[in-house]
Amino acid sequence: MKFTATASAHPNIAFIKYWGNRDDNPHLPANSSLSMNLEGLTTTTTVCFDERLKSDVLILNKEGITGEGFQRVHKFLNHIRQLASKSTYAQLESVNNFPTGAGLASSASAYAALALAATRALGLELTEKELSRLARRGSGSACRSVPAGFVEWQAGEDDSDSYAFSIASPEHWGLVDCIALVNRSHKKFSSWQGHRLAATSPLQSARVKDCQRRLRLCKEAILEKDFKKFAEVVELDSNLLHAVMMSSQPALLYWEPATIEIMKAVIYWRETGLAVCYTLDAGPNVHVICRSSLKDETKERLLNLRGVKDVIAAKPGGGVKLIE
Ligand code: DP6
Repeated sequence: MKFTATASAHPNIAFIKYWGNRDDNPHLPANSSLSMNLEGLTTTTTVCFDERLKSDVLILNKEGITGEGFQRVHKFLNHIRQLASKSTYAQLESVNNFPTGAGLASSASAYAALALAATRALGLELTEKELSRLARRGSGSACRSVPAGFVEWQAGEDDSDSYAFSIASPEHWGLVDCIALVNRSHKKFSSWQGHRLAATSPLQSARVKDCQRRLRLCKEAILEKDFKKFAEVVELDSNLLHAVMMSSQPALLYWEPATIEIMKAVIYWRETGLAVCYTLDAGPNVHVICRSSLKDETKERLLNLRGVKDVIAAKPGGGVKLIE
């Protein structure tokens, strides 16, 4: 017997970042976070539980995956099998239409799509909240790719109340994330390793302590569509994240020379009248956020900077969805 389902999800860009876990198992974050799903960037995953399989099989972008990446997926599937009281192994085929592991948070869309496809294939119908809690166990930021549009992940007290929900629909505010790619290669430190180092930085406790205030400001800015207020808090939060990364032991420095060139250009453009701001995840690429009316201008300016290899533009995206 075979049980199959296919789902797709978008990655998300965090405006208020998640960094560091209070508890690794079952993945409870040090702080709440806030993000926007990225339309057009998509992970599509087909899961097929097949009684003839002797182990799980993972194929990512047509390549078989073993090692750490596979072990993480296998553990996640074990949890889902336990929920469904099943023991059948599965073959997973996952395709990203964007570069994997280059700081574009592919694990977020991957685990959101996998959570939906695997549960449906086994006949489980989870609510959005349950699905978000489940995706969180695979990758923290994946819980934010489950609901649509602008999304808050409340840190919560325990497994039952650490999940993400939508604070505004994708249509609410026409923002665009112009992702300036400076490097398409795989990152040296995965965010999984980074989260473990967060507590070694003397700045992490200060970042976490002030987080609810930043989250409140960012949420207000989004609901009021106040770009000035938004830009201030988003850049502050990104700078705090990277200050923690740089002061961890060992230090994590994700920036390339081009990363700094872009951040400085963005600040200058804003000072001279173009409403843009930057935010960076665990990688050298820079997410430059603007209103949709400024997309072409922002893209063109970014492409004229020496270190920018390409720009991918994404507007607010929907939540995880079942394809078949
Ligand atoms: C810097 O969710 O990728 O992008 O839970 O270990 O999979 P794991 O980490 P992940 O971490 C995301 C870190 C970040 C900030 C963010 O997206 O909030």
